[in-house]
Amino acid sequence: MHYRQLGDTDLIVSRICFGCWQLSPRFWGDVDLEPWRAAIRAALDCGVNFIDTADAYGDGYAETELGNFLATEKLRDRFVLATKFYWNFETEDRYPDTSYDYILRACEASLRRLKTDHIDLYQIHAWDPLTRPEEVAAALHRLKKEGKVRWFGVSNLNVEQMRAYGRYFEISCLQPLYNLLDRQVEAEELPYCQTERIGVITYSTLARGLLSGKYSRDHVFQDSRANNPRFQGERFARILDRLEETRPIAESYGLDIPQLAVRWVLTHPAVTSAIVGVKEPSHITGVAPAADGELSQKDWHTLAGIVRDT
Ligand SMILES: NC(=O)c1ccc[n+]([C@@H]2O[C@H](COP(=O)([O-])OP(=O)(O)OC[C@H]3O[C@@H](n4cnc5c(N)ncnc54)[C@H](OP(=O)(O)O)[C@@H]3O)[C@@H](O)[C@H]2O)c1
Repeated sequence: MHYRQLGDTDLIVSRICFGCWQLSPRFWGDVDLEPWRAAIRAALDCGVNFIDTADAYGDGYAETELGNFLATEKLRDRFVLATKFYWNFETEDRYPDTSYDYILRACEASLRRLKTDHIDLYQIHAWDPLTRPEEVAAALHRLKKEGKVRWFGVSNLNVEQMRAYGRYFEISCLQPLYNLLDRQVEAEELPYCQTERIGVITYSTLARGLLSGKYSRDHVFQDSRANNPRFQGERFARILDRLEETRPIAESYGLDIPQLAVRWVLTHPAVTSAIVGVKEPSHITGVAPAADGELSQKDWHTLAGIVRDT
């Protein structure tokens, strides 16, 4: 496993990060916990030291299961732990909330569920237009002063929004959507992060599994992907065909298709780590070899030309 410094922080993170959104039954159905717990052990065995979760994943469920497992196995200190806040799910209908009081409550709740006394990277899940950045910053500075949070990150923000927050607190990391099919952040956000020395941890690195290339054309998804047009009909079939075309390049590096998709993301110089959504050990052990190298410039561009969603 290879490691990188996350932005300007003192965190040294593995280039593959273990993503916990899969413990969100609303999106992913019921995931078996035993294989999921085994995957955390498997992650450690292959050198992964970085876990990404969010309070909103399963409205506290993902944090609770993660916290219980890390505490029982005494593994908390083996991982750089990143979580997020933004969705207020104290009432039945969740809504964005980054008000001062809510951030303090959200953090206490995350610490309790994660059974830890500090969060290494506390991320704002998305932009909240209703709360002034000064107010968000006041809560974050208090959490840092109290030792409850070490560093701050943001997710799903554009450059203007990062600048708005960046005037009031230090952003150490951006978590954007980035993969072979979703390249919007290449134009502005990734270069901005490079210039500002902000770490980048990509989400949906495998486009929710699509870039694994492992599904047949008639695969029936039992989770929220069943309602996603990318996973249906001709569009789905076309993407699968294009992934097959990448096989010779994958093989020339000794990789399979999901590993190639992860290595493609990691080859971008702005990217610190690629988050992969995990349900079972093979998901994390399967992509670990992707971290140990980079693609040539030529192959990176060739792949980008082959794998398109049009
Ligand atoms: N900040 C945000 O707004 C945001 C949004 C989304 C995700 N995230 C974070 O990013 C993480 C990853 O993103 P994601 O969940 O969208 O999806 P992803 O990593 O693009 O895809 C996950 C799916 O890919 C398949 N998969 C994973 N590893 C594989 C492997 N080695 N070989 C073959 N297939 C593999 C599995 O599909 P099957 O289930 O079909 O086996 C898995 O459920 C999340 O867990 C979360 O931590 C953040």
